[in-house]
Amino acid sequence: MDKFRIVGGKPLIGEVLISGAKNAALPILLCTMLTKDKIILKNVPNLRDVNTCINLLKILGKEVTKLDTNTLQIEGLVTNKVAPYDLVKTMRASIMALGPLLAFLGEAEVSLPGGCAIGARPVDLHVKGLKEMGADISLTEGYIKAKAPNGRLHGANIFMDKVSVTGTENLMMAAALAEGKTIIDNAAREPEIIDLADCLRLMGAKITGDGSATIEIEGVANLHGCVHNIVPDRIEAGTYLVAATASHGKIICKNVNISTIEPILSKLKSANALIETGDDWVCLDMLDREIHPVDIVTAPHPGFPTDMQAQFTVLNALASGNSLVVETIFENRFMHIPELIRMGAKLKIDGNSVFIEGTSKLTGAQVMATDLRASASLVIAGLVAQGTTIVDRIYHMDRGYECIEEKISKLGGIIERISS
Ligand code: UD1
Repeated sequence: MDKFRIVGGKPLIGEVLISGAKNAALPILLCTMLTKDKIILKNVPNLRDVNTCINLLKILGKEVTKLDTNTLQIEGLVTNKVAPYDLVKTMRASIMALGPLLAFLGEAEVSLPGGCAIGARPVDLHVKGLKEMGADISLTEGYIKAKAPNGRLHGANIFMDKVSVTGTENLMMAAALAEGKTIIDNAAREPEIIDLADCLRLMGAKITGDGSATIEIEGVANLHGCVHNIVPDRIEAGTYLVAATASHGKIICKNVNISTIEPILSKLKSANALIETGDDWVCLDMLDREIHPVDIVTAPHPGFPTDMQAQFTVLNALASGNSLVVETIFENRFMHIPELIRMGAKLKIDGNSVFIEGTSKLTGAQVMATDLRASASLVIAGLVAQGTTIVDRIYHMDRGYECIEEKISKLGGIIERISS
């Protein structure tokens, strides 16, 4: 199993090019099932989750060709209705195959995703919405088996009891080909929702309201091919910006969509970083500046993203004072905390909160990554710690960060992948 060996203490300095967003690429890859026509996707990050998604599309009958590292061509008819356990268990987002399969084929069998390291993560909202659109759904032998009576879903007024990103996306894709109008209320407003809507519109879907809490979709009979550019990854950008802040460095992130990272930039400014932005870049300067503590409460977009909570916890651990981080989206998303404590961070968990007492240094240790963003926080901690840190189980990291060691090395960080 691969590990990272990181020697800490070097400020990150230089330029980093941000990749396409994993969380936009996954639903957009799956929405290609809604047409047999050719779709070209650009700025697709080359990641483990994306490759899992490509394998899933291939199993379901699509032809997927890599035109270059970050460009995919996808075409052909979906012929198989079964998304098997072996793939779904490695990537929860595979649940988003349910909506497009059901909309295009009139039936679908998608393995129920198992438990997840960051909490129970049920899929009841996905199922409830599809039922409201007319699907007959049963749970048999670990699979969600769904059928649209007469082969086509119908529009519905759906209220999401809880804001769910992939739940909203699943229903948007299903509604695009349903008969009549669907209104999704209390919809997620994440930038990745807008990117999916943009791609669906290029395919001929009639969608309005994405980016607000009410999305309206007038179903159409057919969708067609398109060329779409995946939005830049706001969480990858945020992770490099936090790493630069924590290491007292100075970086320019290029290929950034500024409007999508405002909640992160605002907290970095409170942490005392000097920030300048342009059309598609952000420059962060933390040379010779003290890190100020920042309280964080995670919330659905446009609130502070839960996917940046672990990284900001490390930053706060190094700040000149005390702070509080509250996680409101997922239970059990503090598995990085015991590892950070082993590196000298002064952290105390109380329910869904972490009390943080700033300290001037962390020390290198052998630590274990437990999920994607927890891994990112351990890499940041390793980059600023005194001595050597070994981060085990970095396959989590490969799910969401493209060329991580190349990008960090280019910024002057000392990191290498070792196999054992
Ligand atoms: C997506 C992101 C993930 C991010 C999360 C929250 C993708 C591929 N993943 O995950 O990176 O951390 O949004 O921003 O886009 N819930 C239910 N029932 C459901 C669905 C969700 O109770 O049917 C709950 C979840 O347990 C959680 C909350 O709703 O407490 C939000 O989860 P959700 O937005 O669905 O997360 P994901 O879409 O899985």
